[in-house]
Amino acid sequence: MAEVNNLPNFEHGIVWEDPVGGHRVGCLDASRKEDVGKLMKEEKAVLAIQDPPYNVDINDEFGNSPLDRYMAWSEKWVDNTIGVLGENSSLYIWLGADIRNGLQPLPDFMIMMRRKPVKVRNFITMRNQRGYGTQKNWMAIRQELLYYIKGEPVFNVQAEYTDIPKKTRGYYKEVGGKITENFERSKSLTIRAGNVWHDIQQVFYLMHENVEGCFAQKPIKSAKRIIEAGSNPGDLVIDFFGHSGSTLLGSQLCKRKCYTMDINPVYCKLIAARLLHWRRTGELGWGTMKVLADGKMLVSDEELLGEPTLLELMPA
Ligand SMILES: C[S@@+](CC[C@H](N)C(=O)[O-])C[C@H]1O[C@@H](n2cnc3c(N)ncnc32)[C@H](O)[C@@H]1O
Repeated sequence: MAEVNNLPNFEHGIVWEDPVGGHRVGCLDASRKEDVGKLMKEEKAVLAIQDPPYNVDINDEFGNSPLDRYMAWSEKWVDNTIGVLGENSSLYIWLGADIRNGLQPLPDFMIMMRRKPVKVRNFITMRNQRGYGTQKNWMAIRQELLYYIKGEPVFNVQAEYTDIPKKTRGYYKEVGGKITENFERSKSLTIRAGNVWHDIQQVFYLMHENVEGCFAQKPIKSAKRIIEAGSNPGDLVIDFFGHSGSTLLGSQLCKRKCYTMDINPVYCKLIAARLLHWRRTGELGWGTMKVLADGKMLVSDEELLGEPTLLELMPA
């Protein structure tokens, strides 16, 4: 039992394999083909959820590099991703458009993707609650999500239904000679998310799933929506920009397997710790506990993992 809960010491090249769920976390570089090979070991994934740095400077938290350098780098990790996707698979990419800098890199990225052996399938926008901007402009609250496919992947439409009840009546249509109201034709009592997601709460410090100190944490709800739509139980999901580990934990909750990486050893440790902490406590994050500051871990491994369970305390 003790081994199951040991947190690995990550450094470049180390890949940790979760002995219980078979997930992998690698301290690796997504732009290096050999690193991606180390994570995948010849396996192919059904779904990739990629959330790279956006090259957008928000509240001085993110750096920017010259656009051509950013695009050359993007092309490398995109090729590495497509290379390890199975014949019928989906690729989701979160990205941003800098309103203060020519809307880069989103349009440049979209055009680059036209040359890749994938087909664009949709363009989703998720609404954040907190934004950035001034009193002289519309607040920037959108998060863009590009959806590409290879072959004919699964799309489980039930994943698209929200918890928001349908309200609007009065869309009449003739079906088999009878005039029907839209509720009679409806497949569900709740509305579909469609490609504008406004029903997902952005992570903030009062939420249990919060990983305080992670600057770009995606909600478990968005991870689960993508995972449930784009894969089936037992399938392999990949995420090369793991950060807080929302894709890995979302995969675990949806009974999928996840191989993830981050170039930064601190985030790798956090991803593994978040999974083990969830196994011990059932919590999706650490809530208000300050876990990181300026990219450095503020707490011990014991605090990260939480109280051991009785089973773990029992002599072998
Ligand atoms: C926008 S965050 C991802 C957020 C993540 N989806 C979440 O929900 O927590 C980007 C992450 O990519 C990592 N990263 C940057 N360059 C990388 C590279 N070349 N290879 C792997 N990871 C990289 C950063 O360390 C950072 O943690």
